[in-house]
Amino acid sequence: MKILGIETSCDECSAAVVEDGKKILSNVIATQIPFHAQWSGVVPEIASRKHTEWIYTVVKEALDRATLQINNIDAIAVTNRPGLFGSLLVGLNFAKAFSWARNIPFIAVDHMLAHLYAPFLDSLSTHYSLTTNHYPFLGLLVSGGHTIICKANNFDNIEVMGTTIDDAVGEAFDKVAKFYGFGYPGGAVIDRMAKNGDSEAFQFTLPSLHKGQHRYDVSYSGIKTAATSQLEMFRVKKETTNEDLAASFQKTAVDILLRALLNAAEDTGLTCLVAGGGVAANSYLRTRLAEQKHLNCVFPPLDLCGDNGAMIAGIGYHYLARGDHSELDIPALSRVSGFKKRYP
Ligand code: KG4
Ligand code: ZN
Repeated sequence: MKILGIETSCDECSAAVVEDGKKILSNVIATQIPFHAQWSGVVPEIASRKHTEWIYTVVKEALDRATLQINNIDAIAVTNRPGLFGSLLVGLNFAKAFSWARNIPFIAVDHMLAHLYAPFLDSLSTHYSLTTNHYPFLGLLVSGGHTIICKANNFDNIEVMGTTIDDAVGEAFDKVAKFYGFGYPGGAVIDRMAKNGDSEAFQFTLPSLHKGQHRYDVSYSGIKTAATSQLEMFRVKKETTNEDLAASFQKTAVDILLRALLNAAEDTGLTCLVAGGGVAANSYLRTRLAEQKHLNCVFPPLDLCGDNGAMIAGIGYHYLARGDHSELDIPALSRVSGFKKRYP
């Protein structure tokens, strides 16, 4: 079955065609980065306007690259939650209109569940062997708006074990980069800068919340404040560069994640860890996780870490295969409260 996936929850306007939840036939990602860069962050009004301008062309391009017509498509999957409301509406209503006009089944999917599905896709360049036999596994969802540690039982069934109690990890990268004018988007810039920095130049402290009920939770507001307005308190090296700051911040940001993750791995006994979301592209996070020899860590290829239509089409297939579809009156939701324990 061939599914058209549409993703417009934030600042990437993307459409893809995926066959049987696995094989990517096309994955068009039109990024709005240049339009938001001058504000060092996503401007929601600009994002939804650009989606409105681009969505038709992006979907057309996805079909063309897959050498398919719309009548070769078995279903349309689209992100309807969570995300920027105006942005979500563009993709959602486009998909609804298409489904209505062509009488094609329509499936509304959760963006974060789709991120966790990304490593199941065969990318254009790489074959990943993650299969449904790997469930249950430990899930790490790290993006600009979310930080979730979960036990994943199935493509649509996750038990949230821990989340951030304040800011998301990607947001902390973005805010620190914005404060110092390092560039946009902040996560990728800090990742690059950190390669030439000394991660011991500043020694930031870890939040003291990993006890009792917070064993799997994380917090990023402390490190964000420390790295911006309290920097001198954490200085170890006399002369430092921006690269040193980037490396020190990144090290602590990853240490925070790792502590919660390793607690979750120890308590559940799960040894397979699957990561997803924009921050899963972070090279230092990947290195540190690869060092955990008792864990089998699976990451999506870099081009499937950020927002993309392929992960939406991929997960959409499994709903369709189960006989599920959505009604055309389903709303867009900027937040989700359907999972156990504070998700999002
Ligand atoms: O999943 P995503 O593309 O969009 C959301 O759903 O939020 O994630 C975007 C986040 C941003 O905060 C961005 O700075 C971060 O992912 N990011 C990174 C890297 N690449 C993107 N963070 C750390 N290191 C990276 N290499
Ligand atoms: Zn995302």
